[in-house]
Amino acid sequence: MRFLVLGSAAGGGLPQWNCGCSNCVAARDPSSDLKPQTQSSLAVSLDGESWGLFNASPDIRQQLGQTPALHPRGLRDTPIESVVVTNGDIDHIAGLLTLREKQAFTLFGTAVTQAVLESNPVFRVLDRAHVDVRPVSLEQVFHPVPGLDARIFAVPGKVALFLEEGEPDLDLEGEQTVGIEMICGDKRAYYVPGCAKLPRSLAERLRGADLVFFDGTVFRDDEMSQSGTGSKTGRRMGHMPISGDGGSLEALSALDIKQLIYIHINNTNPIWRLGPERSAVEAAGFTIGHDGLEIYLG
Ligand code: MLT
Ligand code: MN
Ligand code: ZN
Repeated sequence: MRFLVLGSAAGGGLPQWNCGCSNCVAARDPSSDLKPQTQSSLAVSLDGESWGLFNASPDIRQQLGQTPALHPRGLRDTPIESVVVTNGDIDHIAGLLTLREKQAFTLFGTAVTQAVLESNPVFRVLDRAHVDVRPVSLEQVFHPVPGLDARIFAVPGKVALFLEEGEPDLDLEGEQTVGIEMICGDKRAYYVPGCAKLPRSLAERLRGADLVFFDGTVFRDDEMSQSGTGSKTGRRMGHMPISGDGGSLEALSALDIKQLIYIHINNTNPIWRLGPERSAVEAAGFTIGHDGLEIYLG
């Protein structure tokens, strides 16, 4: 299995258009070591010829442009076989609008997420005469690219921000937020870009995995208020923090995962830069994702 991190940042990207936090300021400075990072998406392939995309970010046009493996090989063509959406968040669906232009591909997602797309007529630009829209049930095997067995599974997470009405249920576990399990030969990999908490069943699923891409939105639960950028906690946004009690660093460290890569990293997150937070993640043997990161699992 070959993976390409197309976008490592959370919703908003790095820098975020309206943010003047220290990370965003640095990311706008060409002389800084901190390079801009695009919004949440991962590509997978077995043969380097046909690719599956996990989530379609608002930055997809730029991501495809800078990834030669995803360029057309002829007149009106794409190596993209399928797009799998893991929830209805803007950073994971808005890129679908860029994939119009009467191009055939398969769009996988749960019935709940497909209903979010169907309820908004703008997504009708994905002409059903070309785009094969396939609802996938939890735990059902499907094939993002030929030969790759994948399953989607429930991950704790709330409804998309734009569907919130009052205080959302932060304990939802069902079809609104999912992770993707991929099995090829004796290798097992996971993609979990949004996760509100890690119940025992999910931890057991990830135990011993060869590769896990995991939600690294915030380092501290109170990072937004501490940085003065907002009032919501990570948990209120549907993302368990990396650090602290019940944080992902401690929980995932206990699971004998061979390679753990944080993705969907918010622009406020201090792990973008050298410092104690980044060191803590690296000391656990974990990797901080970045755009263009390539992982080969063979
Ligand atoms: C999230 O991951 O919490 C969402 O992408 C937030 C958003 O839609 O901006
Ligand atoms: Mn997001
Ligand atoms: Zn910022």
